[in-house]
Amino acid sequence: MVLAVVPKVKLNDGSEMPVLGLGTYLAKDDEVQKAVSHAIDVGYRHIDTALYYRNEADIGEVIREKIKQGVVKREDLFIVTKLWNSYHDPERVEYACRKSLENLGLDYIDLYLMHHPVGYIYVDDNNLRPTYSDEKLMLNDVDYLDTYKAMEKLVKKGLTKSIGVSNFNKEQLERIIQFCKIRPVTNQVECNPGINQKKLIKYCRDHGITVTAYAPLGRPIAKEKIPTFLFDDIILSIANKHKKTPAQVILRYLIDINTIPIPKSTNPERIEENIKLFDFKLNNDEIELIDSLNTGNRLYQFPLMQDHKYYPFKAEY
Ligand SMILES: NC(=O)c1ccc[n+]([C@@H]2O[C@H](COP(=O)([O-])OP(=O)(O)OC[C@H]3O[C@@H](n4cnc5c(N)ncnc54)[C@H](OP(=O)(O)O)[C@@H]3O)[C@@H](O)[C@H]2O)c1
Repeated sequence: MVLAVVPKVKLNDGSEMPVLGLGTYLAKDDEVQKAVSHAIDVGYRHIDTALYYRNEADIGEVIREKIKQGVVKREDLFIVTKLWNSYHDPERVEYACRKSLENLGLDYIDLYLMHHPVGYIYVDDNNLRPTYSDEKLMLNDVDYLDTYKAMEKLVKKGLTKSIGVSNFNKEQLERIIQFCKIRPVTNQVECNPGINQKKLIKYCRDHGITVTAYAPLGRPIAKEKIPTFLFDDIILSIANKHKKTPAQVILRYLIDINTIPIPKSTNPERIEENIKLFDFKLNNDEIELIDSLNTGNRLYQFPLMQDHKYYPFKAEY
């Protein structure tokens, strides 16, 4: 039973993207298949995966089955996957995209993202995290702009409708915008009340780029009461007032500050909880209160990439 019709945002290339998606990192096999199936049944139309997650084939099988059963049409779905760091060499970009398409069993991707601005040395398709004997990552210095230009060709070939980036800072976006032919439609970054990305969101909005919010709930661990923002009195009192859960308040906040959250869940009740967001709205005072929880601290810092010249998180935003 569809629990909500998720509104869509118009992208700078004319495509439309549902403002809520299902995250799938660390979900595999039967678990991810059941999650995606349930998510589609209750109204999710935007699914976020990546070559790196090694779950594209599981997800693609469910999508094709749902289309076959007539539950959804292909054009109703918005499938996002990502170019992994080992394929930044422009000559490998189309190969990686076709590999994702083959895994998914689809003719096209809706949105193909560069997963990181930092590239790795390609070893083979089974080794997506190559390291030296001292555990340091095998990084390479391919310019992300060259990688992006190779991604533009994928749009022309019809392999993906839209392209975008992930984990890019403002300076890196500026460089892409200056030299690209096809502007990225989104920058997928960590965004939650702990790191609300207000400056980056404004920069992106001023340039017609949406922000997709990953780790929107801060990967909660209930028994340790982390992340602290999820258990904060500010969130609890707003949740009580609206008769919603803290997670719903946070996801609604992320939509109200113009981002596109992609909460991951493989639990049917939480998949349902996370889509029941479109029967309430936060007022400006509530948004400002939640803004006050911003510390700027990231959960995802990718420390093994930090010596790379394109490591994005040394800049202010
Ligand atoms: N581009 C990138 O570099 C990048 C990096 C990280 C993540 N991502 C994408 O963003 C997605 C989301 O990020 P994430 O998975 O790291 O973090 P998240 O969505 O903030 O948190 C996921 C965790 O929250 C739990 N959860 C879900 N709904 C809940 C609720 N209503 N109340 C309490 N707990 C809840 C889930 O457990 P259950 O499954 O048991 O419900 C899971 O353990 C990823 O899955 C991935 O698709 C992208």
